[in-house]
Amino acid sequence: MRLAPTVLSIALSTVLLLTSPTTAVKHDNFKTCDQSGFCKRNRAYADAVNAAESSWSSPYAVDESSINFQDGVLTANVWKALPGDEYVARLPLKISVATDGVARVQIDEERRQKGDVTLRHDSKARKERYNEAGEWALVANDVMKLHKDAKMVKLKGGVRLEYGFSDTQLLVQHKPFKVTLLRAGDPVVVLNGKGFMNVEHWREKKELAEGEEKKEEEDESTWWDETFGGNTDSKPRGPEAVAMDITFPGHGIVYGIPEHASSLSLKETRGGEGNYKDPYRLYNADVFEYEVDSPMTLYGAIPFMQALKKHSTVGVFWLNAAETWIDIVKNRKTGDGAKADTETHWISESGVLDVFLLPGPSANFLHQQYGALTGWTALPAEFSLGYHQCRWNYISSDDVKEVDRMMDKFDIPYDVIWLDIEYTDDKKYFTWDPLTFKDPVGMQNQLDARKRKLVAIIDPHIKNVAGYNISSQMNDKGLAVKDKHGEKSYEGWCWPGSSNWIDCFSPEARKWWKTLFTFKNFPGSTENLHIWNDMNEPSVFNGPETTMPKDNLHHDNWEHRDVHNLNGMTLHNATYEALLERSGPGNERRAFVLTRSFFAGSQRTTAMWTGDNLADWSHLAAAFPMILNQGIAGMPFAGADVGGFFGNPGKELITRWYQSGAFYPFFRAHAHIDAKRREPYLIDEPYRSIIRSAIRLRYSLLPMWYTAFHRASVEGTPIIRPLSMQWPGDEDSFEIDDQFFLGDSGLLVKPVVTEGATDVKMYLGDDEVYYDYLDPEYAVFRGKGWHKMEAPLEKTPILVRGGHMVLRRDRHRRSTGLMKHDPYTLVVALNTEGVAGGVVYIDDGETFDNKKGDYIYRAFTLKTVEGEMKSVNIHTGPNDGAAYAEKTKDLRIEKVIVLGVPDAWLEKKVVSVAVGAETWTAEVSATKGGKGKPNFVVIRDPKLPVSKDWNLRFGETSESHGEL
Ligand code: GLC
Repeated sequence: MRLAPTVLSIALSTVLLLTSPTTAVKHDNFKTCDQSGFCKRNRAYADAVNAAESSWSSPYAVDESSINFQDGVLTANVWKALPGDEYVARLPLKISVATDGVARVQIDEERRQKGDVTLRHDSKARKERYNEAGEWALVANDVMKLHKDAKMVKLKGGVRLEYGFSDTQLLVQHKPFKVTLLRAGDPVVVLNGKGFMNVEHWREKKELAEGEEKKEEEDESTWWDETFGGNTDSKPRGPEAVAMDITFPGHGIVYGIPEHASSLSLKETRGGEGNYKDPYRLYNADVFEYEVDSPMTLYGAIPFMQALKKHSTVGVFWLNAAETWIDIVKNRKTGDGAKADTETHWISESGVLDVFLLPGPSANFLHQQYGALTGWTALPAEFSLGYHQCRWNYISSDDVKEVDRMMDKFDIPYDVIWLDIEYTDDKKYFTWDPLTFKDPVGMQNQLDARKRKLVAIIDPHIKNVAGYNISSQMNDKGLAVKDKHGEKSYEGWCWPGSSNWIDCFSPEARKWWKTLFTFKNFPGSTENLHIWNDMNEPSVFNGPETTMPKDNLHHDNWEHRDVHNLNGMTLHNATYEALLERSGPGNERRAFVLTRSFFAGSQRTTAMWTGDNLADWSHLAAAFPMILNQGIAGMPFAGADVGGFFGNPGKELITRWYQSGAFYPFFRAHAHIDAKRREPYLIDEPYRSIIRSAIRLRYSLLPMWYTAFHRASVEGTPIIRPLSMQWPGDEDSFEIDDQFFLGDSGLLVKPVVTEGATDVKMYLGDDEVYYDYLDPEYAVFRGKGWHKMEAPLEKTPILVRGGHMVLRRDRHRRSTGLMKHDPYTLVVALNTEGVAGGVVYIDDGETFDNKKGDYIYRAFTLKTVEGEMKSVNIHTGPNDGAAYAEKTKDLRIEKVIVLGVPDAWLEKKVVSVAVGAETWTAEVSATKGGKGKPNFVVIRDPKLPVSKDWNLRFGETSESHGEL
């Protein structure tokens, strides 16, 4: 948001602006493509190319004689020519191909590499194109497992690289330069097929001598100093954009490129009915009162896109941290709907051109390929999957303790209570308000008694005031971001008034930042305190587009322009490391850090939330598509402020919001300082009880959430998943973004997000049997297509797909930590063949002992023809997890519910259980189904040990059951 630069007016305008949820985003504060010089130029370039049709030829060509290919890496020079073949720039090209099928195409500018350019305004900025985004985003710079035996075949006018795991090939056409990724002979991704590639090479600004007339060569009107909203960007390097068209032949649906309040399936952006007029923009910004259904930029950026068609998923990762715009057009001449070609145009303001092509061929493969590059979601501490209670602000430690007591009084489970900026002494981070938070440790001890945690906010703007030692240390040591002259700390305005910003691009700054979190340096912090990094786009109230000037200088003199979208990640990474390190080597606990700003790779250390939404039905509906796209882009630990940040939700809205929030991977209620108090116990009946049930439902399903997070942490799969992952052959499901699957559990969920609704239309994409999970009689839904499901206020529509198993906990406790030793219930949903299976992952939820093999990883299966259900160890770590299995030998499954059993099983009144040499008998109660209702049986107290092998036979007693 942009506010006037005085503390008083900031406070006043904050109050005035923030109290009214009905006002809309201030479009004037943010550029359109037309107002962003490089976007406008490149769109115009694309228009000119389209207008020229076949008479156009892209001016980029590979110098054939320069090609070298070795160990999976092709290097060559690409020449950029002006009309008439006059070469203006030599662009070193590197193409790397990996064993998993991924290809990387990198293009730099030789003259800039050599520093053979002069900068205007005596700028100290670096002369090279920024090429360090990979050092932040990728797991390692040499992350690709190069396919050393890949072959290069010379063709007429190009080369073909043969590599990868399944018939992947890359065609490199020399003139014009064009790259095509082929899978089994079919083109799936094409670079520069349309000829929009544009590397704006360095050129000198020709100042006109007095009286000299400007020659009409090229339109330079957007090349040099650029002014927007009263701020002038000095652009010392002039125009330097990189742009490329990327086409997905036959793939008519694209997902990804968060963060936008838009649909899961991205829209076209060149106008026309139902389309956007502007490209999707990636330029991390604090967009005050953002609107839904918009390609406008938001707080975070992940330049990863997934393209789909029936039974095929491919992707591209555009590794560039500068401001980026992406146009999307579907060429329907080539096919309808999901069969169209999707033509995208990626435009970044600066940096090298660096793009990864990911062949899929399925979503699972794609997530693995992308995760292998940028890393996996860190397995969270289990408490962080519980419910989080936040508002701006809990005003004192007494307030916190009272909320804590009231949640218990009303039997509402929660795990974490949060402190927003007001807990500090006058917005000085790492301090506590001496009047209102006198005893932070006592407060945390009360929380600890119920195994609860505290999260406190620490933002990157450091109050610029005499006597604040953190400010003086940072500035004296030169660890803040510098202004464009590179001498002084940049000064701007944020919550504390005048502020400077920590520059976490600097190793020294990060080292210092980490020292601030030690228990000694942050008195009042304890092991149970975790951190929220906000405003890290960075938000600067008086800066251009509410952020930093692009010509500010970071460590090593990189311009802010080059690194803007990485800024938030540098901060939350340093904070995360600080939390790990504060307990000392060997005592590390899993750290929880929430960030507002993020980039590709952020998933390795943090969770995100969708920022300042509105207490409005449209924002409730917007959250799921946003969270789904976070998962697509490899960062699934995501949520939205439950209840809506700005404004006061009505009772129905907040109730429905809790029901949705219980299915956000990150589940936190939050509210603006001017919003009325709305802790769940304050809401009248029957709403309060319904909200309590929604939160309890979350807690009961935590074993499934945790298992889904485990899979995300090793394979990159989303936590809540778009339908296309379950039904890749069903194009009709590809654009549905208000229902989703929870991990591999088979739970298909469609929370109500519309006012007054009492039913929903649930889509099924296959002919499997589905059971109504919350119906005591488990009504059956079956048949591809739409099904009406009742959804009165107290109900979240949830189906469980036949073939799956859901492990849950039915005892209500006050926090996740108090559930640790509780028994489980296993719900077995038989499919049409009478089979079901499921997996579960369990560990201590807080340490890193899981890395030493201390975890349970098991698969359960039931085949009715065999009359037997089994638990099998699928642990792959040291010692098969035997040590941990022994530690957890008392964990039990106390109830098994089997849905959809054959009629004959209704007579089986007993089951026998065998664990090693021991056997025993358990009783079964059976319920016969009727119209639309399945038969089901409940096995009472079978005492199944979760950490051990067992088998269970239906209709047998322990006498007839032999040894396992
Ligand atoms: C920003 C955050 C919001 C927070 C507020 C005060 O607006 O997005 O969640 O409450 O700052 O810190």
